[in-house]
Amino acid sequence: MRKIFKDLVDAGGTGGLNWHVHAFQSRKRWQPTVAHIEYFLARCQPRHTHLLLMGCSAGWMMPTPWLTQFTQIDAYDIDPLAQRLFNWRHGAALRQSQMQITHHRLDAMTHLPDILAQHPHASIWFDNMLGQHRYRIRDEFQVEKELCALKITLQGRDWGSVHDVLSGPTQVVNTKTLRTQDVRQGVYPKDMDAAYNQSLVHSLHAQGIWFDHLTSHVFSNDVPTTLIPWEFKPHYWHWLQAGWQSSFEG
Ligand SMILES: C[S@@+](CC[C@H](N)C(=O)[O-])C[C@H]1O[C@@H](n2cnc3c(N)ncnc32)[C@H](O)[C@@H]1O
Repeated sequence: MRKIFKDLVDAGGTGGLNWHVHAFQSRKRWQPTVAHIEYFLARCQPRHTHLLLMGCSAGWMMPTPWLTQFTQIDAYDIDPLAQRLFNWRHGAALRQSQMQITHHRLDAMTHLPDILAQHPHASIWFDNMLGQHRYRIRDEFQVEKELCALKITLQGRDWGSVHDVLSGPTQVVNTKTLRTQDVRQGVYPKDMDAAYNQSLVHSLHAQGIWFDHLTSHVFSNDVPTTLIPWEFKPHYWHWLQAGWQSSFEG
C-alpha cells in the first residue's frame, strides 16, 4: 500500500504527482523551452513511422504535431499516472490522425535490449528521461557507465534524446539574452567537459552548487547536439542537450 502511494506521488523519485503538478503550474514559464524542443524536433527526420517513446509522462513538453507524423507509438514510463495524463493531453489529436498508441508501465533502461529486439523497425526518442537515471541509481560510476554504454546498445538504430546535462540555482537571468547553443563536432570533447560545463553554468549566472546529471557522454562526439536552457523553477535552471543519431541499420 505504501509503495503504491509512493509510486503515485513520485514514481521512484523521477515523476509522479509531484512532477505533474509542477509541470501543470509551470506551463507558461516552460513555454520558451517547449518552443526550442519543438524547433529541434521539427528538424529531425525519423526514419520509421513507428516510434518508441521513452519517459513519455504526460508529454508536458512534447509538441503534439511531432507525434502525429507516426502511425504507431509504443510509450514507456514507470509512472502509474503517465498513460491517463498523456492521453488527456495528446489523445484527441492522436485519435484524429488515426495513430495507434500502446502504453507500457516499464523501466525502459532495464528492459531496453528486449524492447529494441521486439521492435527492430522503430525509431526511438528518450523524452527528457536519461537525466533522471542519476536519481534512480545512486552509484555515480554505474550511472555514467550505463549512460555511456547506451549508444552501443542502440548501435545501428535511429534514435534521439533530450536530457538534463546540468542543473542548479541561479541569480536573475535575462531570458532575452539566452539562446540555444549548437554544439558541433569537437566542441564538447571529453577533455573539455569541465571548462565547457563551467561556461554553460556561467551563462546562467549560477550560484551555489550545480548538479551534473552525468549525461555528457550519451552521444558520441560526432553527433551535433543543441543545448537548450530551461527555467525549471524561478531561480533554478537546467541545461538540456538534444541530439539525433541516425545510423544505418544492418
Ligand atoms: C522529466 S520527466 C519528463 C516527462 C516527459 N517527457 C514530459 O515532457 O512530460 C521524466 C519521466 O521519465 C520517467 N522515467 C525516468 N526513468 C525511467 C525509466 N528508467 N524507465 C521509464 N520511465 C522513466 C519518469 O517517470 C518521468 O515520467
